[in-house]
Amino acid sequence: MNPEKALKRIEELIATIQHHDELYYVQNNPIITDREYDALYEELVQLEKQFPEFVKSYSPTQRVGGAITKIFPVFQHEIPFLSLSNTYNIQEIHEFIIRNQKLTDKPFSFILQHKFDGVALSLHYQNGILMHAVTRGDGTQGDNITNNAKTIRAIPLKLKGSNIPEKLEVRGEVFMHIKDFEKLNQERIENGEPPLMNPRNTTAGTLKLQDSREVAKRKLDFVAYFLHSNVLNYKTDYEQLQQLKHWGFPISEYNQVCTNIPEIETYLQYWKDKRFSLSYDIDGIVIKINELEVREELGSTAKSPRWAIAYKYEAEKAITQLESISYQVGRTGVITPVANLKPVLLAGTTVKRASIYNEDEIHRLDLHENDYVTVEKGGEIIPKITNVLIEKRNPNARKIQFIKNCPACGTELIKIAGEANWYCPNSDGCKPQIIGRIEHFAHRKAMNIEGLGSEIVAQLVNQGLIHNVADLYDLTVEQLLPLERFAKKSAENLINAIQKSKEQPYEKVLFALGIRHVGENLAKKIADQYPSLDELQNASFEALTATPDVGEIIARSIKDFFNNPYNQNLLQRLRKANLKFQTNKKISSQSNKLKGITILFSGTFPGYKRDELIALAESHGAKVLTSVSKNLQILVAGEDMGPKKLEKAQEIGIKIINFAEFQKMIE
Ligand code: IVH
Repeated sequence: MNPEKALKRIEELIATIQHHDELYYVQNNPIITDREYDALYEELVQLEKQFPEFVKSYSPTQRVGGAITKIFPVFQHEIPFLSLSNTYNIQEIHEFIIRNQKLTDKPFSFILQHKFDGVALSLHYQNGILMHAVTRGDGTQGDNITNNAKTIRAIPLKLKGSNIPEKLEVRGEVFMHIKDFEKLNQERIENGEPPLMNPRNTTAGTLKLQDSREVAKRKLDFVAYFLHSNVLNYKTDYEQLQQLKHWGFPISEYNQVCTNIPEIETYLQYWKDKRFSLSYDIDGIVIKINELEVREELGSTAKSPRWAIAYKYEAEKAITQLESISYQVGRTGVITPVANLKPVLLAGTTVKRASIYNEDEIHRLDLHENDYVTVEKGGEIIPKITNVLIEKRNPNARKIQFIKNCPACGTELIKIAGEANWYCPNSDGCKPQIIGRIEHFAHRKAMNIEGLGSEIVAQLVNQGLIHNVADLYDLTVEQLLPLERFAKKSAENLINAIQKSKEQPYEKVLFALGIRHVGENLAKKIADQYPSLDELQNASFEALTATPDVGEIIARSIKDFFNNPYNQNLLQRLRKANLKFQTNKKISSQSNKLKGITILFSGTFPGYKRDELIALAESHGAKVLTSVSKNLQILVAGEDMGPKKLEKAQEIGIKIINFAEFQKMIE
């Protein structure tokens, strides 16, 4: 490709990928498959490799990180980063309004939005391109953390649309969704690392990591709430937010304009309890005067603007008594303590249990039997014990001692060097581990066996029908029929689903095996490096540690897995059952029969997933498109194809074939 064409294609790819990023991260509405996305991305990577002079600062490839910053440079804020005055008291909201009414003659309304419990970030754009990302710091200067911020997909690297001023500052909040935080903590606990406190601290800590590749791995999100420009003349905050949205910034869907106190109170009251059903933590509501002219007139004190106030919710706390500690056994044998509490009402729900992560946490809290404890609700489903009321402790109370034996099978617990957790080593004989592993194996993201949920697994194990994942493939309809919850149809469905799982690709099988520390993403990476299970099994410890993202703990865990004779037996049976133990190499470039042909699949194709169809067509050289256009040559019509698409294709005069005809073409 000549440089001119390459540049054009690079710009085109950047714009397309950016569009899909926005659909995915900002609008929550992706329209292409991961595979299609990856293909675009890969094309860009290759072109940039060939033409390094055309690597743009705003290219999506710049999001993966790589830059290491030892000390973040200091950045002077052009407009001071003020904080917000805040209150826990509705009366003070009334006073805030009355005070401001006295200071101006102009009428005004309010914009109410969540007070995100994250980390404030200021983004500077020049001609629509992200130049600097700066933390709040002390309000006059902050840290320039641009490389880290670029890894956050929700932050646009290049703005889209029109009206973009030469210089522009946008402020907002970086935060972490509770489920991503909990997942990260779960991984840390399984790795024996101490759990992190809460999503906000984790966000702050992540943004200050020196290695931006590490930042890229943690899932951070961003929401914009403030726009500053010298040239744009909007009348209200609301209009500015709409503009931000058009440029591609994520803004909260819960921003609301209110015109009077009752409306404000309704909003505050609504979110008081509803906040616990959000995917992220908020610690209050920010009330801002909407009219920018009025804001100008009111101005700021040294600390905070007069035109805004934060209404904070009290942390939802309750005091109750510890009744006992239960110990749960995970699929990897990890023992997790859980506190059983005297039931207490907290934020509208009755709480009976609280999470405690591991033995260290019991020591940190210095928990004694029957202690009175403070429980607090964050966004997590299970609340946390945050404090022990020592003054209420019975002087004879005994310290809580971590158990020595597995609560399920009685085996003596062990500790793995360097990890904080206790494990039950009886992996082949301990029921919760057996059930947990089978459940994991059947999971949607693993072998995706529909209908094999936790209750059914427990039933099958308890009835002695299965002991491990290989037994699943020997199950018959007749064996299921006598069981509760099974009739002919449901039994057949389950057996079919189990059989169908044999089509799951190698990387899913690798994840499904449940090798400790090998999560979904890592399984993909390992599958890239070792395209067959045999190759993985034969890899030396040293070779494994050279794999991206595989450290010594993980390498050891992989070696241990394969060295275990029980697992060897299992693998042999799974291989016999015809599970995919290697990457589907033969799919790549089978022929050139469709070389240069553009093709589109529309509707559904029994027996084929979209991803598979695309792979199939591509393997014969076709270029798969995602919509009907003049560039399209062949449309393969499946079941339930949309009439509009068909009509459009007919109108343009595109060749329309059915699936059988397509198969003939590649025979
Ligand atoms: S506006 C001058 N809006 O709260 C006003 N701040 O206490 C600038 N925050 O540092 C802030 N959600 O980190 C604003 N919807 C929101 C917010 C918000 C969270 C944080 C922000 C700021 C702190 C001020």
